[in-house]
Amino acid sequence: MNTDLYKPAPTVHLVGAGPGDPELLTLKAVRAIRQATLLLVDDLVGDAVLRYARRSARIVHVGKRGGCASTPQAFIERLMAAEALNGERVVRLKGGDPFVFGRGGEEATHLRALGLRVEVVNGITAGPAAATSIGVPLTHRDHAHGVIFVTGHARGDAAPLDWAALAAAAGQGLTLVIYMGIATIEAIEAGLLHGLKAATPVAIVQHASLPQQRHACCALSELARVVAREGLSSPAIIVVGDVAAAARGLAWPIAAVPVRRFA
Ligand SMILES: C[S@@+](CC[C@H](N)C(=O)[O-])C[C@H]1O[C@@H](n2cnc3c(N)ncnc32)[C@H](O)[C@@H]1O
Repeated sequence: MNTDLYKPAPTVHLVGAGPGDPELLTLKAVRAIRQATLLLVDDLVGDAVLRYARRSARIVHVGKRGGCASTPQAFIERLMAAEALNGERVVRLKGGDPFVFGRGGEEATHLRALGLRVEVVNGITAGPAAATSIGVPLTHRDHAHGVIFVTGHARGDAAPLDWAALAAAAGQGLTLVIYMGIATIEAIEAGLLHGLKAATPVAIVQHASLPQQRHACCALSELARVVAREGLSSPAIIVVGDVAAAARGLAWPIAAVPVRRFA
């Protein structure tokens, strides 16, 4: 009898490594990393997280390290499937959460179409992590009743983001959390000023949760200028909305708060 017929399909784990601080990993993520024999690792995953991997595990970096072009997505998907079918315990390790701007959905679809099982392990996504790291609550019963997560870097063939529409939503009491926004910062500022006041508080957090974390706070109308002046670069999160004025314990109510910058 061919017992292979009754073997369950191999499982690939898509694991979120959180924003960088290894203490923010979930227990499930640590267990999956420890059990992996092959880790395919994105750029934003630091060495502190990889310390949980077993010594014998193969670690393959598939991001844009050292200025090299990133590994094509189709290649990563083929490699994951081939190695899992070959008996490797494959972990695809991604910054933040695999299902938030992490292509986890595409990868899960591809793997399942090949008959593989996929287990997704959530990670703490960068937006809330960045806000919390500077004392900003993304919702607050008095100031923001919801949150919009949005990318500043849509795919080349996608329709451009309608920043004016997002500004209108934000003006109704929603906090905007912008991922990958540094490269298009001028367009974001100009678009949001169509619907939000120039004095709307904004916070920018680079390398959230890591020792090299930096941030600045300013008014929306100063956003691009402050990012340039402070040399803030990717990876960074931009938080737009009244709650951003709470950064590092500024006094509330927000309306009375002068726009200030923090080193
Ligand atoms: C391709 S997206 C990946 C998002 C990730 N899956 C998540 O859930 O956080 C990369 C963007 O996430 C944000 N990001 C990731 N880690 C960050 C960190 N430690 N600090 C600030 N922003 C971060 C930046 O906007 C960066 O350009």
